[in-house]
Amino acid sequence: MSKFKNPPNAHTTQNKISLARLEDAIPVAKLLQRVMYQWKDYFTTDFIGGLIGKNEVYLIYSEGQMAGTISMSTDSSWATDERKQVKWHDESAKALYIYDLAVLPEHQNKGLASELLHEVEEETKKRGIKYLRGAAISDNPNLIEFYKKRNYTVVGKGKVNWWKEDVNFIEKIIK
Ligand SMILES: CC(C)(COP(=O)(O)OP(=O)(O)OC[C@H]1O[C@@H](n2cnc3c(N)ncnc32)[C@H](O)[C@@H]1OP(=O)(O)O)[C@@H](O)C(=O)NCCC(=O)NCCS
Repeated sequence: MSKFKNPPNAHTTQNKISLARLEDAIPVAKLLQRVMYQWKDYFTTDFIGGLIGKNEVYLIYSEGQMAGTISMSTDSSWATDERKQVKWHDESAKALYIYDLAVLPEHQNKGLASELLHEVEEETKKRGIKYLRGAAISDNPNLIEFYKKRNYTVVGKGKVNWWKEDVNFIEKIIK
């Protein structure tokens, strides 16, 4: 039985998900700088504006407030697997990559990140792409559990261009 009276579900909550627009670049950059303070300098308004311009940034609003974000792209250049330790299901298949998943602390544990993931999974399916991939830093076991519970598999460890340590690469087969 669910531990919640009303389990979160994109179809039953009042939360609204939409693609970010250029005028959202400043608030999205601020949200990311606050939630992912380790990479504060990385999330400039220009950088976020560039992603928004490519329609890669999704936002979730809760109680009328911008509460969380996720980005999704075809670009995998941030990930390297020089030691060949990552075992993707199908190396040569088309895939989409998720990154910058963040929910403001005051809106966490309400299912918002799950809704954002559901949204990008649906979009992946619509585009006829079978694999959704990403990375989770290795020293956050809660995050790895979060993805595992949502049917993502850890497929190995590798380097990314935004973190000094190895990270866990994750993958979900979209059906
Ligand atoms: C990781 C992160 C995105 C999760 O966001 P979130 O919106 O709190 O996630 P959810 O609410 O969907 O799920 C989190 C937990 O809350 C629980 N939850 C869901 N709905 C709930 C509700 N209505 N009431 C209480 N708890 C709820 C879920 O069961 C889930 O727990 P579980 O993993 O044990 O199942 C957020 O903690 C965050 O921004 N962290 C910092 C940045 C970060 O690490 N990002 C990832 C980079 S890859």
